[in-house]
Amino acid sequence: MQFETIGVVGCGLMGHGIAQVAAAQGKKNVVVVETDAAALARGVQRIEQSLAKLAQKAVEKKQMDEATARAFVADARQRIKPSLQRKDLSGCDLVIEAIVENLDAKCELWRELDALCPSHTVFASNTSSFAVGAMADASRRPARTIGLHFFNPVQLMQLVEVVRTPRTEPAVLDAAFAFARACGKEPVACQDTPGFIVNRLLVPFLVQALLMLERGEASKEDIDTAMRLGCGHPMGPITLADYVGLDTTLSILEGWCRSHPKEPAFVVPRSLREKVAAGKLGRKTGEGFYGWDGDKRA
Ligand code: 3HC
Repeated sequence: MQFETIGVVGCGLMGHGIAQVAAAQGKKNVVVVETDAAALARGVQRIEQSLAKLAQKAVEKKQMDEATARAFVADARQRIKPSLQRKDLSGCDLVIEAIVENLDAKCELWRELDALCPSHTVFASNTSSFAVGAMADASRRPARTIGLHFFNPVQLMQLVEVVRTPRTEPAVLDAAFAFARACGKEPVACQDTPGFIVNRLLVPFLVQALLMLERGEASKEDIDTAMRLGCGHPMGPITLADYVGLDTTLSILEGWCRSHPKEPAFVVPRSLREKVAAGKLGRKTGEGFYGWDGDKRA
């Protein structure tokens, strides 16, 4: 089993990056689908900007000459077919969804795609917090439904969590590992447990940082500096919560609090709720716990 033509549903924060690495590193043909024309145009623009940036850096580091860099960008771009129609996914070997983190919306998508795609097509969710098993039920192809969890920013983060359920066919997992490696990523094997490996450890860590801030034990700057310099983290936890998106962090936590009410690590900090209620979602809205100017803290 090999994945040559890849579908990506959703061209937002994660989807545009997944489409890009599949085309640029993986050398796959990619169909990327959005329902909204403006969102699709924004996603394609982000891909083009990111490709240009990576090419420029490769030239600066003398990893590529100018002509090779131009060819790299052009090759990746021409492999990506943007579309507003889900029926364009019918020729894909693998479809990765990166739509809104809402289980009903994801299950509805899989039901629709089951009717559109041939039986060999594998379905993969980039969910950060929902049970892949629930989507496997909705897809009506449980042996061919998995999680492929990329990290933000997809172009720079090297990990992919490959999530299996008890019903996943072994050949599907082998093909998923090969696909992740082709995209220049290091895959790890995960079971279908809340948060898989990374978010199960990361989200409670972010929560503890926010609770420490709420208790007034340290400033947000000092908490971040402490974890950067004391533990070698590239970003401190409060900066990272803003970077990931406070709405995303809240939605993960609320889902877990509902599904695992007795787990003491799953609590929602008051300050997180307040920021989201005020529309301060972090980097994406220009303000969260910090002010943001594009991808950098202001
Ligand atoms: N495409 C191309 N280039 C990019 C880029 C992108 N998407 N994003 C950043 N760059 C470029 C920058 O422009 C910069 O270029 P420059 O040197 O010419 O200015 C270069 O890459 C390095 O970026 P930074 O200056 O921001 O430098 P850093 O060394 O800090 O690297 C980082 C950025 C890789 C994001 C690093 O800070 C980091 O690893 N942060 C932690 C991120 C993390 O933990 N992500 C996981 C979040 S959890 C998650 O995703 C799971 C989900 O389910 C919630």
